[in-house]
Amino acid sequence: MSKIKVLNIVGARPQIIKSSAISRAIRLNFSDEIEELTLHTGQHYDKELSEVFFDELEIHKPDFNLGVGSAPHGRQTSLMITGIEEVLLKQKPDCILLYGDTNSTLAGAIAASKLHFPVFHIEAGLRSFNKKMPEELNRIMSDHASTLLFAPTNAAFKNLMNEGFRPENSPPYTIDNPKIYLTGDIMYDNSLFFAELAERKKSSLLEVMHLERDKFILTTVHREINTDDTRRLGIILSTLKELAEKHCIPFVMPFHPRTINSLKSGLKPLFDELKICGYISIVPPVSYLEMTLLEKTCRMIITDSGGVQKESHFFKKPCIVLRKETEWIELVTNGTVKLTDANPDRLRDEFEAFIHNGTDLVYPGFYGDGKTAEFILNEILHFFNK
Ligand code: UD1
Ligand code: UDP
Repeated sequence: MSKIKVLNIVGARPQIIKSSAISRAIRLNFSDEIEELTLHTGQHYDKELSEVFFDELEIHKPDFNLGVGSAPHGRQTSLMITGIEEVLLKQKPDCILLYGDTNSTLAGAIAASKLHFPVFHIEAGLRSFNKKMPEELNRIMSDHASTLLFAPTNAAFKNLMNEGFRPENSPPYTIDNPKIYLTGDIMYDNSLFFAELAERKKSSLLEVMHLERDKFILTTVHREINTDDTRRLGIILSTLKELAEKHCIPFVMPFHPRTINSLKSGLKPLFDELKICGYISIVPPVSYLEMTLLEKTCRMIITDSGGVQKESHFFKKPCIVLRKETEWIELVTNGTVKLTDANPDRLRDEFEAFIHNGTDLVYPGFYGDGKTAEFILNEILHFFNK
């Protein structure tokens, strides 16, 4: 029996991590039926945003790396489309698997759908309803170029229905007759799988970072809206510094290079103040296992990341999101994620509320049973009548 040839397209940190759930499930349960190839666009290229995950999470190493690097949206995406097209024409995979909402996702969707390769989108249907976000445009366009759409949440599934996708479609599925599924979230699979390993493999991390369990705040900031607007970034970080000093509580901040670049170029005096503040520790991006341990052991998370806010739920931590909207709306309804945008008063109020009452919250299971990757791979087998 010939194997189904699946081409994963990844490029940015969260996609590489997401692909590990699929890679692991193929290795453990589907290796007789599915052959996996991985194309890395090269959108992320620093070791700590890319290579570290392939090593640490034992992910299938990229078979192709386009090495596109950083560039403005149009140029970066067009370089990716050109490179992906060449690989598709040579490799002729049976389908391509896309993750999330980055420029690498969009480039994969455009290149593959125009060449009539079936596109399967993991994390379909998420919407912020803010088309000023590059990710929102990427999501909508990728979903509408897809044949199988795997929605992680009820809200994402409903969004797809509202855009005209019909759950009652029957096979054979095509780009014009797509199938939508409510699947759960492959990142929940990952957190369940790696949480205990993180404790074992990174047991000295807290000591090295001078942190104590439940007595520090974990913060990440990387979204274009916050990093490229130095006024917003300045407000956020000076408010966090004030809160750290008031409560004498350490903040650990593994920052994306984009955030460090903005601090160095547009907020030098504040960056210098943060560096000498005894409660603030700005560090380079950490590995996924290190991040998992920090999320598991912190008191509270403050972030603008989609992935990190969701992981706050997996590890039952209250979370403040530095945006005015989120795609993971069930977390807001649940009261465990608070949206403060870059508003210093809201940030202060929600911080005070969580620091005093953050232990009485409940964290229902919104994200499936931890076997979402297996579910998705079984549906891919069905698509090919296997
Ligand atoms: C991208 C995604 C975003 C995702 C994030 C995950 C898009 C539009 N955005 O944002 O949805 O949340 O990845 O981390 O696809 N840089 C480096 N080293 C690298 C890569 C980037 O220093 O290895 C710096 C460069 O200055 C670059 C900037 O970061 O210009 C932005 O990189 P880019 O890939 O364009 O977007 P991200 O902000 O990483
Ligand atoms: N992450 C990591 N190291 C870090 C910061 C984040 O491993 O220093 C992981 C995090 O645990 C999550 C993913 O990266 O799984 C989220 O990626 P990111 O915040 O870059 O993007 P987003 O999810 O917002 O698209």
